[in-house]
Amino acid sequence: MFKKRIINKLTAQKETGLYREPVEIENKKGKFLLIEGRKVLNFASNDYLGLGVSDELKRKVSGNFLKYATSSSSSRLVSGNYSVINQAEKEYARFFGYEDALFFPSGYQANMGILSALFEKGDLLIFDKHMHASSVKGMLLSGADFHGYKHNSMSHLCKWLEKTSKKKPAVLTESLFSMDGDFLDLQGFNELKNRFDFFSIVDEAHAFGAIGENGKGIARDVADIGVGTFGKALGLFGAFVLMPAGFKEYFFNFSSPLIYTTSLPEAHAASAIDVLEIISQCKKQRKHLSKISSLTKEKLVYEGFCVKGDAHILAVEIGDESRALEISERLLEEDIFVLPARYPTVPLHKAILRIGMTALHTEEDVKKLVSTLKEV
Ligand SMILES: Cc1ncc(COP(=O)(O)O)c(C=O)c1O
Repeated sequence: MFKKRIINKLTAQKETGLYREPVEIENKKGKFLLIEGRKVLNFASNDYLGLGVSDELKRKVSGNFLKYATSSSSSRLVSGNYSVINQAEKEYARFFGYEDALFFPSGYQANMGILSALFEKGDLLIFDKHMHASSVKGMLLSGADFHGYKHNSMSHLCKWLEKTSKKKPAVLTESLFSMDGDFLDLQGFNELKNRFDFFSIVDEAHAFGAIGENGKGIARDVADIGVGTFGKALGLFGAFVLMPAGFKEYFFNFSSPLIYTTSLPEAHAASAIDVLEIISQCKKQRKHLSKISSLTKEKLVYEGFCVKGDAHILAVEIGDESRALEISERLLEEDIFVLPARYPTVPLHKAILRIGMTALHTEEDVKKLVSTLKEV
C-alpha cells in the first residue's frame, strides 16, 4: 500500500508538470557550472555577491578548517558550545544592530526553530501569504492560529490587525521576497507596526549581504527578530537569527530544532566572522549587482516578458507548470541554467522562471540570457 502510494503520487507529479528532479552539477567555477560536460552560465544561484566561489573566502575557510576540528560533534547543549561560536554571534548582533544572535545549521531549521518555540496554542500569527515554506512549517508546529494576508498588501494586513488586535497577533514577513523578488512595503509596514504595536519577525535571507548599507539588509527598523542565512549572499552555509536580549536563553531551553541538532563547527563560526569583514567591503559588488539586475529586467520587459522583481531576484511569469519546465530544459540545451519555480513553491498555475542575478554577471551574459530566452 505504501509503495503504491509513492508510485501514484510520483505519477501525478509527472502528469501535472510538478515533478522535481535535481540536475546533477559536476563542478562550479565562478558564474559557470559544468553540466554533462558542458560549461553552462548560471542564473539559478543565490550567491548574489559571488563570495561562495571567491578565492579569498575559500582560502579563509580552508585556513579555519585547518585550525579547528572538522566537526563540533554535538549539540550546543552537550559539548558543541564553543567560544568562537559565541564570539561570532556577538559580532553578528553588533553588525546588524540587534542585542543578540544565534546560529542554526540552516535557515529552514532557524525559522522552524524560532516559530515553534516562541508561539503556542492560543496565540495568533498573521503572515504574508508568500512567506517561505520553513516559516509555514514553523507556524504549523507551534500550534498557534495563523492567517495569511495578500502578498505585500498593507491594507489587507491592516484589516486583519483591526479584526484581531485584542489577541495581540505577531506578524511575519520577508524583506526581499524569495520568489516574487519584490521588497516589503517598509513604510506601510512601519506605520502599521507603530499603530498596532505588534511583534514582528522579518526573514531577510535574500537581502542580508546584498542590500542595504554594508549589506545590513533593509528591515532593522521594523523587525524585532531578523532571520538571515549564510548560504546566499554570505557565501557559506547555515543561518543566524538576530533578536532582543533574553531570547537566546529561551531558545536554548525550548527550541527543539536547536537543542537536538549538532552545532555547526568552530571553523564555520570563524569563517562567519571573516564573512562580515568581506561583505562590508563589497560596496562595488552590491552596486554592480543592482545595476546589472535592473538592466536585465529592463531588457526582458523590452522583449515583452512579464517580469516581477525589484532587485537581484527576477521572476519571469510563465503560468503553466509544464511549459515553465520545458523552457528551462530548452535554456539548458543552450547552456543557460535557469530553473522554474512551481507549485507549491509558488501558487498553482503561476509558474515562473526564477532568475538569480549575481555580481559576477556581465552585460554580455545578460544579452545572452535575454536573446536565448526570446528564442526558446
Ligand atoms: C526566505 C527564505 N528563508 C529561509 C530559507 C532557508 O534557508 P536555508 O537554505 O539556509 O535552509 C530560504 C531558502 O533557502 C529562503 O528563501
